[in-house]
Amino acid sequence: MKTIAIANQKGGVGKTTVTMQLAATLSRRHRVLVVDVDPQRSTMWWAENAVERLPFDFAGSQQPGVLARLHRLDIDYDFVVVDTPGNLEAASILETVLDAADFVLVPQTPEPLAVDPTERTIQRLIEPRGLRYSVLLNRIDPRIPSQLKFWTERLDTDWGVPRFETHWRQYKIHAEAPVLGQLVTSIPDNQRNAGLIADVTRLGYEMVEQFATAGVGM
Ligand SMILES: Nc1ncnc2c1ncn2[C@@H]1O[C@H](COP(=O)(O)OP(=O)(O)OP(=O)(O)O)[C@@H](O)[C@H]1O
Ligand SMILES: [Mg+2]
Repeated sequence: MKTIAIANQKGGVGKTTVTMQLAATLSRRHRVLVVDVDPQRSTMWWAENAVERLPFDFAGSQQPGVLARLHRLDIDYDFVVVDTPGNLEAASILETVLDAADFVLVPQTPEPLAVDPTERTIQRLIEPRGLRYSVLLNRIDPRIPSQLKFWTERLDTDWGVPRFETHWRQYKIHAEAPVLGQLVTSIPDNQRNAGLIADVTRLGYEMVEQFATAGVGM
């Protein structure tokens, strides 16, 4: 069982979106549990709107300590994906989750205002724990030609932080998905959705690869 925390103390960078879509794509080949420890409960809302049954198990918990117990019980999941809160007041919840995590996925949007909180999350909470992590550039606008190049160079050169090769583009369907209760596994495979499906699917493969290359058995 591998616990993946989706974390960034900057609000609105896509933690909940990534949690639900990543869990959905992983569920095609693996047994997946989503845990929501965010007092805002955004995944719960999503789950309630799900038109089809969710392709993974789902647990909301106000007690992030439950994650440590999951490990002990050795429940039969390949991946536990944890959505975490995006505000500084909830830091202790986030810390408890990170204590139980094997890997941290840090979504980051291409906005100058997201830089400081992302750096702080990495430097103060993730690196001191010796956790493996990777940044996912999210909401990249393909209509802005230099945006992807600028931000990948910034991560690679200025920060020197690990990042996923995959980035997620900005799609209206992402914003509609929670209201419609839609996941990558339930949206029609058509021209309109092709880009989103590709982005989400690639991230899933890369995530699995992260554990494979670390020599951790799956
Ligand atoms: N790639 C994307 N394209 C379009 N919209 C996106 C994308 N990723 C996220 N969004 C939208 O951005 C908003 C914030 O995303 P989300 O709620 O997933 O962020 P969050 O980090 O969980 O926020 P919080 O810190 O408040 O929990 C939502 O309206 C979501 O639909
Ligand atoms: Mg959220």
